[in-house]
Amino acid sequence: MILLTGATGKTGSATAKSLNESGIKFKALIRNEEKRAGLESLGAEVIMGSIDNTESVDQSMEGVETALILLPNSESQLNLERRLVDSAKQAGVKRVVKVSSIEATPDATSPIPRLHLESEEYIKQSGLNWTMVKPNFYMQNLLASAATIKDQGKIFLPMGEGKTGMIDTTDVGSFLAKVLSEDGHESMNHEITGPNILSFYEVAEIFSQALGQKVDYIDVPLAAYKETLGQFLTNQWHLDAVIDLFKGIAEGGIEDKTDTYQELMGESPKSLEAFIKENMFIFKS
Ligand SMILES: NC(=O)c1ccc[n+]([C@@H]2O[C@H](COP(=O)([O-])OP(=O)(O)OC[C@H]3O[C@@H](n4cnc5c(N)ncnc54)[C@H](OP(=O)(O)O)[C@@H]3O)[C@@H](O)[C@H]2O)c1
Repeated sequence: MILLTGATGKTGSATAKSLNESGIKFKALIRNEEKRAGLESLGAEVIMGSIDNTESVDQSMEGVETALILLPNSESQLNLERRLVDSAKQAGVKRVVKVSSIEATPDATSPIPRLHLESEEYIKQSGLNWTMVKPNFYMQNLLASAATIKDQGKIFLPMGEGKTGMIDTTDVGSFLAKVLSEDGHESMNHEITGPNILSFYEVAEIFSQALGQKVDYIDVPLAAYKETLGQFLTNQWHLDAVIDLFKGIAEGGIEDKTDTYQELMGESPKSLEAFIKENMFIFKS
């Protein structure tokens, strides 16, 4: 049996959908009763409870062979992931698959990549079999710019000339479903990117072409961007961590494309153009 955490979020819901499409049974630990029916319609056995509740976590691990560790970024993410690992070990789970980040490299200094790296280390020391799935920047992050793209034809971000190999979370979900449900991924670090390494100037150009209307990338000073983002992200740790991550992208970030997705899935990951076309109604005025 497979256990999903984070199954109602962007990556986890795509994983659940993909598992269901392949006819693979799974359990999901979720906290929101309103999201229960959606997951059950995908064939999930739902366990209601919070990841920060030890009893719920222990209960969810019963009879599990492979557990997905997928948590949102927060100050407590590392401790919660450690607790999931301890519970998995105690319950006799054979393998954990962790969603990490391509930026979690040994020389990382930024809080989010660092916590992923420390969590990876904890998993590796645990004695459990493990697989790390390390995606690049999500295309879905661009949905936060949808209103300004639609109303003003502008993307306001502080990435400078920095580039990312952005990937669609649907692809990350399909990739995770495959890794969770087959053998042969033990002790592997799967770094996955989309098909192209793009600056945000190039991203704006692709939007212009796909939408048939001019979209410009406006490089916003980091301090000004932080002030705006702070109106939406009220947790100070999270705000500082995201700004630090974006600063890293502006300073060069991770600019290498990997072929891991293509090699494992037998097809190319989704292009940005295809992502925009799928979400045309959100971006086009
Ligand atoms: N964004 C990127 O560009 C990017 C790139 C690479 C890696 N990542 C990594 O991806 C991860 C985030 O994935 P995501 O974007 O799919 O996250 P997300 O959409 O924010 O979803 C988070 C999930 O965790 C669940 N959750 C949160 N707290 C919980 C609790 N106490 N108990 C039970 N469930 C709880 C949420 O449930 P509810 O639905 O109830 O809220 C939701 O299902 C992070 O670790 C991040 O570092 C992100």
